[in-house]
Amino acid sequence: MRLVLTENLKEDMKLAKAIYDNGKILLNKDVKNLYKYKERLLELGINNLYVEDKYSFDIEITPTIKDSTRRRGKKVIENTFKKISDSFLNLDVKELKGVIEEISSELILNDDVLLNLVSLKKTSDYTYEHCLNVSVICISIGKMLGFSQEEIFKLGMGGMLHDTGKALIPEEILNKPDSLTDFEYTIMKNHSELGFEFLQTLDSISPLSRIMVLSHHERVDGSGYPRGTVGNDIHEFAKIAAIADVFDALSSDRVYRDKMPTHKVLEYIMNNTETLFDYQIVKKILPKISFYPNGSEIILSTGERGIIKEQNTGFPTRPIVRIIADAEGNEDIRELDLLKHMNIVISEVIT
Ligand SMILES: [Fe+2]
Repeated sequence: MRLVLTENLKEDMKLAKAIYDNGKILLNKDVKNLYKYKERLLELGINNLYVEDKYSFDIEITPTIKDSTRRRGKKVIENTFKKISDSFLNLDVKELKGVIEEISSELILNDDVLLNLVSLKKTSDYTYEHCLNVSVICISIGKMLGFSQEEIFKLGMGGMLHDTGKALIPEEILNKPDSLTDFEYTIMKNHSELGFEFLQTLDSISPLSRIMVLSHHERVDGSGYPRGTVGNDIHEFAKIAAIADVFDALSSDRVYRDKMPTHKVLEYIMNNTETLFDYQIVKKILPKISFYPNGSEIILSTGERGIIKEQNTGFPTRPIVRIIADAEGNEDIRELDLLKHMNIVISEVIT
């Protein structure tokens, strides 16, 4: 399986993962003649697809969580947002808990697996997908840091709820396609406090999860909001939420910008430790995240085009590449282990 740009669909590609839209199947796995749907998919904001073709039949992409869990999680967080915007205090915390427990039990994490934290998302479906992804990333980080089951659960809950204050922000500001005015941005920034205040009425949500809602926009140099808290005065859980939030936001296609490839997101986070993000946390998690996830299409410094085939454990920037074309664009299928060819680098990421 591999990831391609929808605009690069070819006749010999079949769909490797079903595409859903609002919980309903749009295209089934194994659909052939995929290129016929190209325009429609692009109209729907689906810019990337997992496909199977002659280059990728033996490339494995392990999903972080099951598609069914992802859909269930999105539905639950969508209902949560609706209840909050209608000021209903009877949130279905049981449902939320069930989903977080499921995500936590599905997330495989051992030393042989480099985590692929990127998931495909549609530009129009951002908010709920983002909450779910932040929860998944927070749980992954908790596992990487060796937290207890109970702590991991609270991290997952805080991640899931971190932006629920946005349910109380006016639609026209929340979904404005252009950049916000200073006034609108001030209103938008209220979401962390609004979410925190709302959840404070619910005893069933741990204070540790609530602090993630309040402080996920705080930054270690004090440049964040709402309080401008500095360094170790920011709770560790909130620092994890900040990393997870930015990681997913930058990895996502938005109306106003294209998503950043994973290695760029990780570089951004690395370059901003001590100013924005906690150095100790970043240092511990970086070796466990794939900089170039399996199935990504890339161009090497030699000009050759290839697909990431496999990871080399402990070396997240030096995977094994399946070359598919030489520098002139002629088909040339062979394997190249970047760990054995340190002079060659990945110079461009297509997907
Ligand atoms: Fe936020």
